[in-house]
This record gives sequence, structure tokens and C-alpha cells, in this order.
Amino acid sequence: MKIQIINGPNLNLLGVREKSIYGNSDFEAYLKELRKRYKNLTIDYYQSNVEGEIINKLHETGFTYDGIVLNAGAYTHTSIAIADAIAAINTPVIEVHISNVYKREEFRHSSMLAANCKGVIAGFGMDSYRLAIESLLK
Ligand code: DQA
Repeated sequence: MKIQIINGPNLNLLGVREKSIYGNSDFEAYLKELRKRYKNLTIDYYQSNVEGEIINKLHETGFTYDGIVLNAGAYTHTSIAIADAIAAINTPVIEVHISNVYKREEFRHSSMLAANCKGVIAGFGMDSYRLAIESLLK
């Protein structure tokens, strides 16, 4: 089984950025743990701060991978273009957030992407990614 994780803008700064919200771990360290835990899965990782590059990655993996775990960061709340890309591909996409966006500012309460995703997982810290993978395995 092949799973693509895509992280959007500012998520390259995990472990540095707003630690009280996003925690102390950088994504690469967490990814190592995930790959160790799911040895039988191919887990590919991509991060970009650029909307079009996220769309390109969705197109590239969205017809051959078994699942995509997408944390689109702030684009979640704004991007019709990413929503259209999710609708255009065949691979199921799980929307993920590290923080509980519903406990935060109101502009984070709406997602442009959620309606085109298989489901949404938010608020479990980095564990949100693992929970998304678990949901794809079922
Ligand atoms: C986030 C939540 C978004 O509102 C925010 O813009 C992010 C990270 C999260 O993982 O909690 O960049 O997607």
C-alpha cells in the first residue's frame, strides 16, 4: 500500500513554529517513527509552501497511490483550487490538522477542502497523521 503525506505552507517549520500549538517535534523525526511503525507501507512525504506545487503533487499521486494524507495548512481555509484538485483525482484524501482548528480563530473553522475529502482529523497533535493512516487501512 502506498500513502502520500502532503504538508502545506509553514509546516516545514514544525518544531520551531508556535510550539505551544504545534509541539516540539519536526516532521522528519515524526515521519521516521511512522515509517518504523508501518514497515509494510510505502509512506512518501512532500512539503511545499506553494499552492500550485501542492496541486501538482495531488495530480501526480492522485491516480496511483492508495491514500493521501493532506495538511494544507492555511490553504485549507481559502483554496478552491486545492478543493478542485481533490475532486479531480481518484485517490481518497484525508484532511488532517495538528491543532483543533475549532478551538481557534473563527476563520479556521471552515474548510474549503473537507467536502471533497473522505474525512477530516483534527486536534490530536502529530498523532492526527497516524490516525489518518489508520483510517486508510480500514
Ligand atoms: C493547521 C491549522 C491551520 O489553520 C493553520 O493555518 C496551519 C496548521 C494544523 O495543522 O493545525 O498552518 O493546518
